[in-house]
Amino acid sequence: MGFRKLTPPADIRDKRGSQLESLLYSEHIVTIEKMSIGGDGVARIPVLDRTVVVFIPKSAPQDELKIKISKVEKSFLFGEIVQIIKPSSHRREPPCPVAFECGGCSWQQFSESEQIRQKELLLKELFQKFLPQVQYDLAPTVVSNQVFEYRNRIQVKHLHTDLGYFKSNSHEIVPITDCPIAEAPIRAKIAELSRTLKPTADLKKYEIKINQDGQVEHYDIGSFGEGLAFSQVNNYVNQLLVEQTLKQIQVLLPLDFSGLLTELYAGAGNFTFALAEIFKKMRIEAVELNHRLTHAASEIVKAKKLIKQVTFFTTKVETFAFHHPLSSEIILLDPPRSGCLPEVITRIAEKNPEHIAYISCHPTMLGRDVALLMKISPQYQIKHLQIFDMFPQTDHFETLCILSRKL
Ligand SMILES: C[S@@+](CC[C@H](N)C(=O)[O-])C[C@H]1O[C@@H](n2cnc3c(N)ncnc32)[C@H](O)[C@@H]1O
Repeated sequence: MGFRKLTPPADIRDKRGSQLESLLYSEHIVTIEKMSIGGDGVARIPVLDRTVVVFIPKSAPQDELKIKISKVEKSFLFGEIVQIIKPSSHRREPPCPVAFECGGCSWQQFSESEQIRQKELLLKELFQKFLPQVQYDLAPTVVSNQVFEYRNRIQVKHLHTDLGYFKSNSHEIVPITDCPIAEAPIRAKIAELSRTLKPTADLKKYEIKINQDGQVEHYDIGSFGEGLAFSQVNNYVNQLLVEQTLKQIQVLLPLDFSGLLTELYAGAGNFTFALAEIFKKMRIEAVELNHRLTHAASEIVKAKKLIKQVTFFTTKVETFAFHHPLSSEIILLDPPRSGCLPEVITRIAEKNPEHIAYISCHPTMLGRDVALLMKISPQYQIKHLQIFDMFPQTDHFETLCILSRKL
């Protein structure tokens, strides 16, 4: 039997389009069903013969709210909170006084336990969307020991007399003298800079970080061109992420494994050196675009006398994957928030390694990339899936996904 696409009659379609636009600034009573990627709460309002999704920043799951529609898109809406009619039982006063204006933390207004629950829901929902047929167990989420004062690195903006973060979707600075998610020495440095920096007519960006000697330092990022190099921001959760990745790889490979591991998006060797330490005979080829990171990593290779075991390549993964053999045994990848280009996933799928360890900071891209991988190479199964709450008070999180070819 054939299927016919059901298209609503033209008069209903026209009414829907104009109905959405006419909703701008209208007020509604809604209940937040769940949180979304990007951090906004999700509610629905009835429009003609259907319901339309409204995204509401700074809301909390199960809040009952009076909202005003602030922006209309083709098939969804944005709303602002006018009044909290009945606060969610998870809602709390955000510990940071600028949490509602600042674009940094999207979830300070509800408890950490509910933040974790929402992150798990988001991952499951995305896997249902991208990988509806795929079986997996979601391992218990690894939480941060510190839900505030965990960040070892921040970026602040400076214009005129203001030092602070941008408002979300804006280049307007929210002035700060403190940032409670940053480690204590960084908080002190923000307070100092907010008092001492001279007014500037040009927008400046500063990175403030705890360096390898445990000292706080700050840079004008402008002088580093594109900004400083990548490093994980939460030391405690990063250590657990690396340990768990290694533990899972030990389930797959013997300790005397003497084959090749290809590591893509390797940074300065966050996973590389931990792997080399445990798998003493493993050869590791690590690929990273940023020369500052590969330079730092190469110094460690020399210092640890790992020249025969570990090689860093300063190049794009896209270039490397097409000009250099990849491991047929295990590939580890930790791409940026944009995920992998389809040609990279295609290349990995064609190489068909026995195991893949994918570490992701954007669950939508993880779902999309794993779906493409499994479409090309359907014999993979998910061996381990786990969230690491690297960024409390925000909607961001890391996910470890281990895939192996079915026997
Ligand atoms: C999420 S970070 C992971 C780094 C490292 N694995 C770690 O844990 O510190 C992603 C890294 O990929 C690098 N990168 C981004 N795009 C790349 C590309 N097309 N080719 C190679 N490296 C890339 C970035 O410079 C960054 O260091």
